[in-house]
Amino acid sequence: MSNESHNSNPLPAAPLHDRGVISRFRKYLPITDATPVISLNEGSTPLIHSPRLSEKSGAEVFIKYEGLNPTCSFKDRGMTVAISKAVEAGAHTVICASTGNTSAAAAAYAARAGIKCAVILPAGKIASGKLVQAYLYGAKVIAIDGNFDTALKLVRELGGIPGIEIVNSINPHRIEGQKTAAFEIVEELGDAPDIHILPVGNAGNITAYWQGYREFHTAGHAKILPRMIGFQAAGSAPIFHQKVIDDPHTIATAIRIGNPASWKGASEAVSASAGQINIVTDDEILSAQSWLALNEGIFVEPASAASVAGLFKLGRPEAKRIVLTVTGHGLKDPDTALTTGSYRPLNVDANLAAIRLVLDS
Ligand code: F0G
Repeated sequence: MSNESHNSNPLPAAPLHDRGVISRFRKYLPITDATPVISLNEGSTPLIHSPRLSEKSGAEVFIKYEGLNPTCSFKDRGMTVAISKAVEAGAHTVICASTGNTSAAAAAYAARAGIKCAVILPAGKIASGKLVQAYLYGAKVIAIDGNFDTALKLVRELGGIPGIEIVNSINPHRIEGQKTAAFEIVEELGDAPDIHILPVGNAGNITAYWQGYREFHTAGHAKILPRMIGFQAAGSAPIFHQKVIDDPHTIATAIRIGNPASWKGASEAVSASAGQINIVTDDEILSAQSWLALNEGIFVEPASAASVAGLFKLGRPEAKRIVLTVTGHGLKDPDTALTTGSYRPLNVDANLAAIRLVLDS
């Protein structure tokens, strides 16, 4: 190929190896020249306008589709920073408790960094897509007879061992990385939305978004701050009920958490932004999940559908623009959709007449 044809390429000359959230938002992150950047080009996820949600809610609604990150959840944003800082600090192993997505992201970024990863998970409560990720990325998968809260308690105790870094969101580098989703939204909309809705489990993400919006507001990039509205699953709603839930339950296993680590951060985000923590039932979550797939072509995992169920619950809130974060891809958890829905193929004879019959029905 001649030089001339190279020069006519209209794409900007961004270095191919330098496109993740650390390189894009470096000056807002705790990164120094000594930090090795461990990235899989996470972030830059689509902010998709939703005509049907806009019509229903009376506002312009946009969906931040975080399932399109490298390991198919928002966790990659925080993990690129947490693993980069862990490697900088000389860690040989990272460890986390998880309902599945954090473990997938930790395992992937540890593989990328060439360090070890161990994940502690509630046995039998991890969606298959997430579990298979942890295995394939080479993590030591430790299943306990206990829920996420117990797993996190154990992880906190292991964190004191030299060379082992905790990469749950109690590690502040995780929150730093996750705030970049708010930066991207402000960049695309030219300002913050009036309302931001997202699911809440361990409450790191709502804390991170609020931090991101505030930082861009302080830097003069956003004129307004959004009301932060978080939705917990009704059976796992400690912040909503203002009490620890000892035996949390929900079909949305990603947010099956009874004692969130970032409880305080979430409460601050909600009170400072005049927002709220609210709840949606499992039935509302499942019908929002299938509604979003059917009406907008966006397939998300159950926890992520809590945002959509939440907007339905709010009805027509006072707002011009609303952003919903959908946190994880639907393929993370195909089993829940398959077992709770009544999906069957239409078995027909292998001939055109039989197929025409189905098409015409
Ligand atoms: N949505 C999904 C898909 C999640 O995986 C999580 C958390 C949340 C929402 C809630 O975010 O915890 O910051 O409030 N998953 C964690 C995990 C707990 O281990 O993967 P949060």
